[in-house]
Amino acid sequence: MCGIVGAVSMRNIVPILVQGLQRLEYRGYDSCGVAVHASSLDATRPAGLQRARSTARVAELLEQVQTDRVDGATGIAHTRWATHGAPEVHNAHPHFSHGTGDASGTPGRVALVHNGIIENHEELRAALQARGYVFTSQTDTEVIAHLVDSHYSGDLFEAVQAAVAQLHGAYAIAVMHRDEPHRVVGARAGSPLILGVGTGGGEHFLASDAMALAGVTDQIVYLEEGDLVDLQLGRYWIVGKGREALTPAQRPVRTVQAHSGAAELGPYRHYMQKEIFEQPRAISDTLEGVEGIVPELFDGADGTAAWRVFKEIDSVLILACGTSYYSGCAAKYWLEEIAGIPTQVEVASEYRYRTSVPNPRSLVVTITQSGETADTLAALRHAQSLGMQHTLTICNVATSAMVRECKLAYITRAGVEIGVASTKAFTTQLAGLFLLTLALAQSKGRLTPEQEAAHLKAMRHLPVALQAVLALEPQVISWAEDFARMENALFLGRGLHYPIALEGALKLKEISYIHAEAYPAGELKHGPLALVTSAMPVVTVAPNDALLEKLKSNMQEVRARAGVLYVLADADTRIESSEGIHVIRMPEHYGPLSPLLHVVPLQLLAYHTACARGTDVDKPRNLAKSVTVE
Ligand code: G6P
Repeated sequence: MCGIVGAVSMRNIVPILVQGLQRLEYRGYDSCGVAVHASSLDATRPAGLQRARSTARVAELLEQVQTDRVDGATGIAHTRWATHGAPEVHNAHPHFSHGTGDASGTPGRVALVHNGIIENHEELRAALQARGYVFTSQTDTEVIAHLVDSHYSGDLFEAVQAAVAQLHGAYAIAVMHRDEPHRVVGARAGSPLILGVGTGGGEHFLASDAMALAGVTDQIVYLEEGDLVDLQLGRYWIVGKGREALTPAQRPVRTVQAHSGAAELGPYRHYMQKEIFEQPRAISDTLEGVEGIVPELFDGADGTAAWRVFKEIDSVLILACGTSYYSGCAAKYWLEEIAGIPTQVEVASEYRYRTSVPNPRSLVVTITQSGETADTLAALRHAQSLGMQHTLTICNVATSAMVRECKLAYITRAGVEIGVASTKAFTTQLAGLFLLTLALAQSKGRLTPEQEAAHLKAMRHLPVALQAVLALEPQVISWAEDFARMENALFLGRGLHYPIALEGALKLKEISYIHAEAYPAGELKHGPLALVTSAMPVVTVAPNDALLEKLKSNMQEVRARAGVLYVLADADTRIESSEGIHVIRMPEHYGPLSPLLHVVPLQLLAYHTACARGTDVDKPRNLAKSVTVE
């Protein structure tokens, strides 16, 4: 989604701003831009704001700034993922405020970039237009630029403070003013924003993600909800929500590991492929240090003891979006079967708006790779507002808003995931959720030491088991050659593997643009069978479990309609390849953990099908990695 980078420096900051945008590209965007203070580098230049914007890739923006000689020591930059207004240059950020009566078209006084959505933008726009402000875009963002301008009387910080007080919605902003060449002001509410403390020359940075500053500074301050930050050469100043400008807020400076290694592709063609192959390591990192099942694994950063919470709760409510939602769906089967705890899984964007019956004794579990997904955060806050205070997150980013806002946490160690289609985040979430299941089972007296030992042994074996599944890649490639010619596909699974079928279908549609749907196999006769022809491949996840015989009947139903089956079969299922049935035999594995293994060939199938169709695998059209707006 949208990305922000900003800086106050003594050197030409444009290459660093553009490089920052390049590091945020993976999040998804459709236009980009940069604005600088022309006189900030060279005081002999006339004071004024310069900008370059593009609907092409950030690499083209770089060429444009070089050709147009856009340089300066103070600047802000942005990647935009369109919400209000089409992805066109006039809607790209930074937006300039054109002062009242400024008909010449020359830039006005304020330049601003924004992540998030302003809900009251229409009424603000009408009020500003009535005062003579001229709008040149369809964005909600331009409203903020004019609003800051309307409040400006010599101090940018005060103007931003007055402007944000009028905003409803979510925002992270970075703002410059023509008359203050060495100053950038930021503010956040509902969208992430961090401050990067420079390591020399008095420079400081703003960004929507610490990753944008990798290699520039590792000294990061995570701004809190409602914070405003004033960046000047050699100093920064943070003011918390509702405070007067004279009382700075203290925020810890953390050393955050630069993710430079994650940006290297190594021998892989795409990040998604790299991330699929990183799964054995990601799982072993996620399970590192887990010697036994103890509630302390889930203790909160603020010292909240998980064992107390686990004793109190009588059910689980899982909230998540996208792939994370599907890991929650799989966990429901574990939680009910192994821990005997009633579990409900809800799509966060639905839960937050529906009338539900709160249970204060429920453990609210949010699952999120990024920890910043707007709907999941809002769903958590909604649950809290209904009196549900037992909260736990399974999250891949220890410094995220989600981890800060939940009482308990398990941090997965997938490492940075760049490909928009989530892979290693999913399997590490499943590993965290399986551990949670065991910890809850133990606290409810439903886990014997023998069971614990068996589960743990199987978990430790997962990296090796995953390697064996990854070795199936050549067979999956031959399936992908068939799929690349199709426009539809059906995925079937039963029980614990139905969520895996859902995830397989999601992967295929996200990156190959093939329409794919997943059904619990027992539902086949109730509708989807009508679609089955030789042009509708049917992927079946067929582990050797209690439902195997029923699944075999479903497969017969498909064959009888000339449907072609692609089956992931366990070694002992006795399902063989024959006319219209293509079988990939899965290596032997531990039954309860089979979702982690069965999903891997489905990830590879989507990946190789997309490659064969020539799509932009890591940045699929219209999608974003981190959905920080509703
Ligand atoms: C976006 C991403 C998905 C991800 C979902 C939830 O849609 O493209 O890959 O599953 O958001 O993200 P989260 O960070 O909350 O897991």
